[in-house]
Amino acid sequence: AKDERIARISSAIRIIPNFPKPGILFQDITTLLLDPKAFKDTIDLFVERYKGKDISVVAGIEARGFIFGPPIALAIGAKFVPMRKPKKLPGEVISEEYSLEYGTDKIEMHVGAVQAGERALVIDDLIATGGTLCAAIRLLERVGVQVVECACVIELADLKGRERLGDKPLFVLISSD
Ligand code: PRP
Repeated sequence: AKDERIARISSAIRIIPNFPKPGILFQDITTLLLDPKAFKDTIDLFVERYKGKDISVVAGIEARGFIFGPPIALAIGAKFVPMRKPKKLPGEVISEEYSLEYGTDKIEMHVGAVQAGERALVIDDLIATGGTLCAAIRLLERVGVQVVECACVIELADLKGRERLGDKPLFVLISSD
């Protein structure tokens, strides 16, 4: 059953206090990857949701969106597009800035990786403030791509990142706090 799969996934995620900074409870998905059944269940739950939805692009956010995105893309017959930290992509890029607690960061995508009119799913391991996903949505929409939904394994609900996404749908397997 779905609930049993979610429970197994949830217990396979390790929580590390005070990483990378004091006061942060880090959600470590590397332990989920060590449990092949839980990892497969994770991918299957996303594939069950997005199969047959006419999604041609799975856009994965660096770094952990690169782990969950590709198997989903292969299973639904979509291409995988990496959304990277600055200066990592070798070709011509478009970039989108977003604000952090202190300062700003940027994500980049190759020009020509997607075409106007395509339908995309944006995937990451976790949504905290939602700033990263918002920037990914803006980047794709700037080039005329329709972002159908965002999906994460974990949502830190207290940080209300979902509200920052406005009316863009967000699907998560686990909502914590
Ligand atoms: C984490 C997480 C998301 C982002 C979410 O990445 O994997 O990508 O933060 O935060 P937000 O919702 O507040 O924007 P991190 O900054 O740890 O980068 P990394 O994946 O490259 O380690």
